[in-house]
Amino acid sequence: MEKVKLAVIFYSMGGTNYQLAKWAKEGAEEAGADVKIFKVQELAPESVVASNEVWKRTTEATKDIPVVTSADIEWADAIIFSVPTRFGNMPSQMKQFLDTQGGLWASGKTVNKVVSAMSSAQNPHGGQEATILSLYTSMMHWGAIIAAPGYTDPVTFAAGGNPYGTSVTVDEKGNMVEDVQAAVKHQAKRTITVAGWVKKGM
Ligand SMILES: Cc1cc2nc3c(=O)[nH]c(=O)nc-3n(C[C@H](O)[C@H](O)[C@H](O)COP(=O)(O)O)c2cc1C
Repeated sequence: MEKVKLAVIFYSMGGTNYQLAKWAKEGAEEAGADVKIFKVQELAPESVVASNEVWKRTTEATKDIPVVTSADIEWADAIIFSVPTRFGNMPSQMKQFLDTQGGLWASGKTVNKVVSAMSSAQNPHGGQEATILSLYTSMMHWGAIIAAPGYTDPVTFAAGGNPYGTSVTVDEKGNMVEDVQAAVKHQAKRTITVAGWVKKGM
């Protein structure tokens, strides 16, 4: 069977979700997938980004990563999203991308994509699960198949125990509090495995 095609799509201002996305890419590649990594279009004015050292650094570090398009969603068998928590929700940059996929949705091309999501927040109870759920709500409308990690591997417990999708707390210096690398890789492998089953079945 042809390799499972995975799109890892992130938004990141401080670099955390970029790192989660890179670990997901690594994990999926180890599992034999064909992986592409994408960012979503920044919506903040350039002057605002330029006034924030951390934001500027992340923008520079991700400058060669392509901005995701509908064609990339069409290409993918599976999608992993990674987004920071914004007031308990996904950032508007990701929402804007999802909201511009009406044409793809209307032509039935979002159906049966196998998806999962990751997140980060400043507080352990600051909305990590809610952010992932906000993405999954849209995915149900897409007719996508959600492959949440659940507790399918003990690494989830070590990473803080979020069965919705891997999430991490970020301290005031921007460092990750929990060690989530293994959980991210497990989630990526599980997403690829489920996508392989779906692809084979179709
Ligand atoms: C506008 C805004 C809203 C935020 N809302 C929350 C929140 O509701 N809960 C929380 O714990 N952290 C919140 N944060 C902190 C971010 O979630 C945190 O900086 C982010 O997860 C870091 O990810 P990144 O490094 O990929 O940008 C917020 C940050 C901003 C800028």
